[in-house]
Amino acid sequence: MDRTPLGIVMNGVTGRMGLRQHLIRSILAIREDGGLPLSNGTVLWPEPVLVGRSETKLRTLAEQHGLTDWTTDLDGALARPDVQIYFDAQVTSARVKALRTAIEAGKHIYTEKPVAESLTEAVDLAKEADAAGIKHGVVQDKLFLPGLQKLLRLVRGGFFGRILSVRGEFGYWVFEGDWQAAQRPSWNYRAADGGGITLDMFPHWHYVLEQIFGPVRAVTARSVTHIDRRWDETGDPYAATADDAVYGLFELDGGIMAQINSSWAVRVNRDELVEFQVDGTHGSAVAGLHHCRIQPRAATPKPVWDPDVPTAQRFRDQWQQVPDNEVFVNGFRAQWEQFLRYVAEDGPYTGDLWAGARGVQVAELGLQSSREGRRLEIPELGR
Ligand SMILES: NC(=O)c1ccc[n+]([C@@H]2O[C@H](COP(=O)([O-])OP(=O)(O)OC[C@H]3O[C@@H](n4cnc5c(N)ncnc54)[C@H](O)[C@@H]3O)[C@@H](O)[C@H]2O)c1
Repeated sequence: MDRTPLGIVMNGVTGRMGLRQHLIRSILAIREDGGLPLSNGTVLWPEPVLVGRSETKLRTLAEQHGLTDWTTDLDGALARPDVQIYFDAQVTSARVKALRTAIEAGKHIYTEKPVAESLTEAVDLAKEADAAGIKHGVVQDKLFLPGLQKLLRLVRGGFFGRILSVRGEFGYWVFEGDWQAAQRPSWNYRAADGGGITLDMFPHWHYVLEQIFGPVRAVTARSVTHIDRRWDETGDPYAATADDAVYGLFELDGGIMAQINSSWAVRVNRDELVEFQVDGTHGSAVAGLHHCRIQPRAATPKPVWDPDVPTAQRFRDQWQQVPDNEVFVNGFRAQWEQFLRYVAEDGPYTGDLWAGARGVQVAELGLQSSREGRRLEIPELGR
């Protein structure tokens, strides 16, 4: 079978997301499966060019995965004619500069979220990318989670009737780093380094809400720093200046109220690290990363409030699992495949830099809402 190579500069692959999800579980997994079959009968063969700041780390990483193409020279890599895509999984604060360089070099871009730390920068990037005529995509991995795919299936199938509300709980305890090492990089907890859970998670919640339920029209949020002292990767204490929890209310078309708590300072008493309960006139669902449970209108029990009598009902047992009915691949890989098809054969693609900018917009407005203690409407972004 014809194999068409496609060069992808991958920047930030020594990081958590870049290595595990994007390089190993996506690009290398596609190669292990023989490449990506295209509709014209040929196979697209991704050729990663690893880019980063540390020669030692890149060399080791390349050797571990049987790769030979790596460099610390981003400009040089972007000048190569065999490279068509620039991918960015660097720390957020380094993203805009690198994306701009790639746009100027005429490469298509695919990037982790948030695309920028400010709306102005995010919109400028989208405009520059459009003007350069390149294709662009932003990671929207949560949409590809099996639990959310099943939720989308329920929405499309009309299960809920009129959707009334969405309640999301996301979070877990991120260790402070003193008596147990933190399980997330320390830059996430420093405002000056692009950290903060509002900027990190609101872009996710925005595309989840927008693509599953509809446009988000207003936001009210309270961002706080619950734990203000943490210990970094070398064991040194630092002031945790970024928000580590945000309590948000989003208003959507059709009067849908979506309330989502995001926190790195909460202990998990849920079935999964994120769960969304959706209530509609004809049924409700609780969707997590993998599972989705439903309770249709006709099977809804009738609890009666009585504080004097312990309830005999086991409410959580009154829900029914939505079956998989299909094989779900890793969400990052599924989206990579969609983006590669978009580049190679103009397949459909919605999660572009404009979608990424709307995510940054809702994060920025969320932070403003928190500072000013008020509800903010979300203006439409003109192109
Ligand atoms: N889609 C998701 O679910 C998801 C989850 C977590 C993080 N992210 C995003 O992915 C990006 C990377 O996050 P991560 O958790 O992998 O971070 P990380 O700290 O593990 O990795 C960051 C990468 O950026 C590189 N880098 C470049 N310039 C740097 C600088 N000046 N200082 C420090 N590192 C620098 C590092 O070498 C490393 O390769 C962030 O933008 C984050 O918002 C996305």
